[in-house]
Amino acid sequence: MEKTEKVTMEKIQSLAKQRGFIYPSSEIYGGFANTWDFGPLGIELKNNIKKLWWQHFVQERMDMVGLDSAIILNPKVWEASGHVGGFADALVDCLNCKLRFRADHLVEDTTGEDVEGKSLEEISRIIQKDKIACPNCKSINWTDARSFGLMFKTYIGVVEDTKSAAYLRPETAQGIFVNFKNVLASTRKRIPFGIGQIGKAFRNEVTPGNFVFRTREFEQMEIEYFINPKDWEKSFEFWLKEMQRFAKAIGLKDEDIYLHEIPAEKRAHYSKRTIDVEFKYPFGTKELWGLAYRTDYDLSHHEKASGEDIVYVDPVTNQKFIPHVIEPTFGVERTMLVALLSAYEEEEIGSGDKIEIRTVLKLPKELAPYKIAILPLSKNEDLISKAKEVFDLLKTSYMCDYDETQSIGKRYRRQDEIGTPYCVTIDFNTLKDNAVTVRDRDTMKQDRVGIGSLKEYLGEKFC
Ligand code: GAP
Repeated sequence: MEKTEKVTMEKIQSLAKQRGFIYPSSEIYGGFANTWDFGPLGIELKNNIKKLWWQHFVQERMDMVGLDSAIILNPKVWEASGHVGGFADALVDCLNCKLRFRADHLVEDTTGEDVEGKSLEEISRIIQKDKIACPNCKSINWTDARSFGLMFKTYIGVVEDTKSAAYLRPETAQGIFVNFKNVLASTRKRIPFGIGQIGKAFRNEVTPGNFVFRTREFEQMEIEYFINPKDWEKSFEFWLKEMQRFAKAIGLKDEDIYLHEIPAEKRAHYSKRTIDVEFKYPFGTKELWGLAYRTDYDLSHHEKASGEDIVYVDPVTNQKFIPHVIEPTFGVERTMLVALLSAYEEEEIGSGDKIEIRTVLKLPKELAPYKIAILPLSKNEDLISKAKEVFDLLKTSYMCDYDETQSIGKRYRRQDEIGTPYCVTIDFNTLKDNAVTVRDRDTMKQDRVGIGSLKEYLGEKFC
């Protein structure tokens, strides 16, 4: 099998829509810019990513527990965390065509200069000095750069006054910090230990785009790992390796991953060290996940603002300190996107004048939306009834697809395209020998397996 063309965003986006992974949201109303809905296969893939993450980072670790905190927290949380004052992007408006742009992206895309960490005045000066034109109407007629808060604001109750204002969380992390004392008191965990959380986050991004790479509503999988400050370097290195291990588990290739040490002036306000795990997307090498040493920034600020004592007393040494935090953070949709990009292959199969291209998603088995497809060879009633028996046999152990329309060749191709690791075909011989054909997605090899031993056979394949 020869590999052919490279994967592109267009190919992934088209497959995602056609096969039911990701649809443009509210499409019957003309869509809703940069908003996406996850179809029957998308929800399976998303759930499998979250399940694998939870297994790696919570279930298999004695030093981790889980949490599910509220999305709308007391607004004081966001004041103490620094988000109300500082979670913002610089933007500029074109006075001619009225379009709005993120100022750092505008400068970077035009001149290549990185302006992160520069003041609004400095950014405005660069735009003027370099005579940067509007990408839309080409005029050079900008407003000054100004700060644009990224949190979505809403109102609790019926009165829209400042007292009832609240925010949709822009990161899941703060829900963990404000529950640190509760978790410590209600579990027998002692430092070092961590809390993991998966959930929605919302950011009013100025320039969302690149499919599900940057959206305004997304999910995060975050770990806040609480440590004694003396151990931060060791812990940071440890979690970096764990993130790399997870990258392998979801099928990412080493050559597509870069570790980017973020310089001090570009780090978030809470971080003393950050490494971005970057991925080589078709549109450039950009952030996939992040690892930050958040010090005691968050817990100290919450202690001060809430008046609650968050000091930890080491039960062995009696040492008192505010725990420091290492934070590995993962976006679910970006993980989904890179899993799809990494799994997508086009192969030339056949020979002579019978060469055809098969598109196959070589997803790790744990991530595949359907594990097994059950395919009666034709619509013959006896075959259908036997196939339904096989479906009933496997359905409690595996997410199975059932498909009885089109030629068997076309059905195999369809299952290849959605990454189903095994197809089980029920043919006329099955009615005589009670055996089925099991086809492997990657090798396309076929085995004849008795229905009586099918569960055991598949069990070995999936272990
Ligand atoms: N708690 C730390 C934090 O939120 P972040 O780098 O801003 O750090 C963490 O976000 C991860 O969330 C990113 O590495 C990325 O995977 C994902 N993410 C952030 N903004 C996103 C957006 N607008 N759309 C999709 N995913 C996003």
